[in-house]
Amino acid sequence: MTAGNGDGALDRESFDVAAVRERYPALADGHAYLDGAAGTQVPFSVIEAIAAAYRAGLGNLGGAFAASGRSVAIVAEARAAVADLVGGVPEGVVFGPSATALAYRIADALSRAWTPGDDIVVSRLDHDSNVRPWIQVAGRVGVTVKWAEVDLVTGELPAGQYADLVGPRTRLVAVTAASNAIGTIPDVAAIAGLAHGAGALCYVDGVHATPHVPVDVAGLGADFYTTSAYKWSGPHLAALAADPGLLETVWPDKLAPSSNAVPWRFERGTLPFADLAGLTAAVDHLATLAPGAPPASRRAGTRRDRVLASMAAVEAYEGALFARLTGGLADLDRVTMYGKAARRAPTAFFDVAGVAPRAVAEHLAARGVNVWDGDNYAYELCTALGLEPDGAVRAGLVHYNDASDVDRLIEGVADLAR
Ligand SMILES: Cc1ncc(COP(=O)(O)O)c(C=O)c1O
Repeated sequence: MTAGNGDGALDRESFDVAAVRERYPALADGHAYLDGAAGTQVPFSVIEAIAAAYRAGLGNLGGAFAASGRSVAIVAEARAAVADLVGGVPEGVVFGPSATALAYRIADALSRAWTPGDDIVVSRLDHDSNVRPWIQVAGRVGVTVKWAEVDLVTGELPAGQYADLVGPRTRLVAVTAASNAIGTIPDVAAIAGLAHGAGALCYVDGVHATPHVPVDVAGLGADFYTTSAYKWSGPHLAALAADPGLLETVWPDKLAPSSNAVPWRFERGTLPFADLAGLTAAVDHLATLAPGAPPASRRAGTRRDRVLASMAAVEAYEGALFARLTGGLADLDRVTMYGKAARRAPTAFFDVAGVAPRAVAEHLAARGVNVWDGDNYAYELCTALGLEPDGAVRAGLVHYNDASDVDRLIEGVADLAR
C-alpha cells in the first residue's frame, strides 16, 4: 500500500496494523494511545480534507457564489458518509457539536409530547449523556423514570428486564449500544423490540459502539442513533441518525428564519464545514480497513459495503488484541477488572489494589502509555459498582493499537501490581 497521507489499500491477508499506524501522524511520538475511547487520533487524510476545505474557500450556506456551494456540497457529502457508516439515510442525519448536545436537543423536543404519568426507561450502563438529559426533561414534565439495571458481576444489561420495565405509558427507552467503561454490548435489537412493542421510541447511544463494530441502525431498531466522529478518527463533532419521517414529527426550538426542513431544523446555527469535510474523510478511511482484497475490487461495491467489511475486520482484529490485554491483566494478582459481558467493545476498566486510579494513570503516563482514570461519565455504573468518585482505570483499544501498546500497558501495570 501507499501509507502516509493516502487512504491506500491494506494489501495483506490479515489486518495490516503497521500500515494503518503509518496513516496517523500523532502515533509517531511513540506513545501507546490507549485513550481512544475518549477520542482518537486522526489520519493524514482527515487533516488534509480539513485543510483542503479551508484552502479551497468556504462560504455560509445559501449564497449565490461558488464558495457557498462548496459548503453545501460538504454538508451533503457528510450526511451521506454518516448514512454509510451506520446504515441510515442522508436525509435523516443531523449534525451537532457533541452527542451530549444532540441528546439534550432531542430530549427537549420529544418531551413536549409527553404528559404527566408517562414513563421513560434509562439504563445504569449508559454514559450520563444518555441518562441525565432524559431524567431532567422527565422531571420537568412529571414523567416517571424507570431504571434498567446492570448485573454487576458480569457487566451484562439483561434485555429481558425491559419486558417488565416498558408499558403502555412508556414513551422512550434510552440505551447504549456499548458501554464506554466496561465495554458491554447489550442486545439493543431485543431491547428496541420490546420498546416498540409498547409503542415507545428507542434512543440509542452509539458513541462507543460505532468505532468497534459494523453498525446497522435498522437492524438495531434504533429510532435515534448518535455517534461522535472524534471517536472514529474524525473531528470533534457528532451526528444523529434517524428516520426522516420520524424527524418530521418532532419540532425543536429554532430560529424563525432558519430552515423548517428536516434535518436542517435540528441544527442550530452554522455548521463546522471544514470539520464536516474531515468527517467524510474519516468514513472514507474506515472504509479502507478490510484487508485482503486486491486494490481494484476494493473500490468495487458501495462505500457502505466497504464500511461493513472493514468494521467486521476491525472487530476481529480488536477482539484478538483485547484478549491479549485482558489475559495479561488477569495474570496480575492485584488487578481487579470490571465487566466480562459476552459481547464487548475492547475497553478494559480495572483497578490496582492500594493504588488510586489517578496514580496508576500517572505511572503509565510516565512510561508513555496513555490511559484514562475516573468514571468516564459512566456515572451510574460507577456509583453502582462503588467506584465513585475516583472511578477506575480505562484502557481502550482502537484499530490503530498494536500488540506493543498492549504489552507496554501490561508491563507498566505489572510494576505496580507486584
Ligand atoms: C458512550 C458515550 N456516550 C456519549 C459520549 C458523549 O459524547 P460527546 O462528547 O460527543 O458528547 C461519550 C463520550 O465519551 C461516550 O463514550
